[in-house]
Amino acid sequence: NKGKYEHYMQKEIHEQPESLTTTMRGRLIRGGSCKAKTVLLGGLKDHLKTIRRSRRIVFIGCGTSYNAALAARPILEELSGIPVTMEIASDLLDRQGPIYREDTAVFVSQSGETADTLLALQYALENGALCVGITNTVGSAIARNTHCGVHINAGCEIGVASTKAYTSQIVVMAMLALAIGDDTISSQGRREAIIDGLFDLPNKVREVLKLDQEMKDLAKLLIAEQSLLVFGRGYNYATALEGALKVKEVALMHSEGILAGEMKHGPLALVDENLPIVVIATRDACFSKQQSVIQQLHARKGRLIVMCSKGDAMSVCAGGSCRVIEVPQVEDCLQPVVNVVPLQLLAYHLTVIRGYNVDQPRNLAKSVTTQ
Ligand code: UD1
Ligand code: F6R
Repeated sequence: NKGKYEHYMQKEIHEQPESLTTTMRGRLIRGGSCKAKTVLLGGLKDHLKTIRRSRRIVFIGCGTSYNAALAARPILEELSGIPVTMEIASDLLDRQGPIYREDTAVFVSQSGETADTLLALQYALENGALCVGITNTVGSAIARNTHCGVHINAGCEIGVASTKAYTSQIVVMAMLALAIGDDTISSQGRREAIIDGLFDLPNKVREVLKLDQEMKDLAKLLIAEQSLLVFGRGYNYATALEGALKVKEVALMHSEGILAGEMKHGPLALVDENLPIVVIATRDACFSKQQSVIQQLHARKGRLIVMCSKGDAMSVCAGGSCRVIEVPQVEDCLQPVVNVVPLQLLAYHLTVIRGYNVDQPRNLAKSVTTQ
């Protein structure tokens, strides 16, 4: 049932304040006068000690689920102090990469049925790793075959392009980081700030959804383009990959997410006055580096669309012309949840305006159950 919406993708983008609320329901503990704020993940509480003792955490997934894990990686590394590595499921299988008994392997999958992710799970089980699932589908193969896990509870996702599952996956993995780090006194202030940020996140997503018309206008400008680059770094490298994946898969436009730190190692050669480039430059520890990236793109007359924190329009675009997308600022590790929304809206409108099927992109299936 699409309700008042024309398409499932549109509905699922707009229901993110609610899906995020459901994802967090019963899992954030407000604390009391003398009790700290904390998180409770029922499915993991008996396994946290083992996870804390593991030598490495390996995230394994495909497509959008992989991107969600990439977005959560920095906060998991920060709060756990454990090295976190990333594996695209098919690539792990192609390489038969090493997985050890001392590893915690985290399988991220909306459907819980993706063939490559399931085969990678089988492989990790055979190698003796602790296997943790993060899935949206109760009773799915990944939920059944992992040792433990967390349901993201985002509600059924029907549009082939994953939207609300992505933001709920990031939130669950941020909560995973909080749960693992829960025994560390030195990071308590940081953890409480993130928990406060989580409580307020649905409101911030509601606020960023107001950019709908602005993204529709931007889509009209980009309708006939051949290609769109998206530059990000740090917490928002994943946002760049995910924004580009959405544009590619539904709007059928070539798009590439680029790690801004790699700009001079090749991508800069593409920059001219015609190619549109989105630069994500919201406030975090990487902000000044992104400002310098913007200056260098300006110097090559790049056609820039800059995503920045509210109030930063002047400082990010000083000395050049560019279009600005201003988004509400949240705790740095949660910023990818807010920042992906305008890009989801852009991909949605671009698709509708270009006349393609937004809920069922050509050649794609919602759940990839074959290799
Ligand atoms: C559970 C209940 C929820 C109830 C809540 C009350 C289910 C599915 N969830 O939620 O309805 O409101 O207790 O306390 O009955 N698991 C895996 N692999 C996965 C995902 C989950 O093994 O990929 C396991 C978990 O380890 C856990 C169980 O499935 O044992 C349920 O997980 P989850 O729904 O996340 O647990 P709760 O949030 O505690
Ligand atoms: C992109 C998309 C795909 C899936 C991928 C993994 O919008 O939907 O890239 O994310 O096929 O699917 P799950 O998460 O079900 O394992």
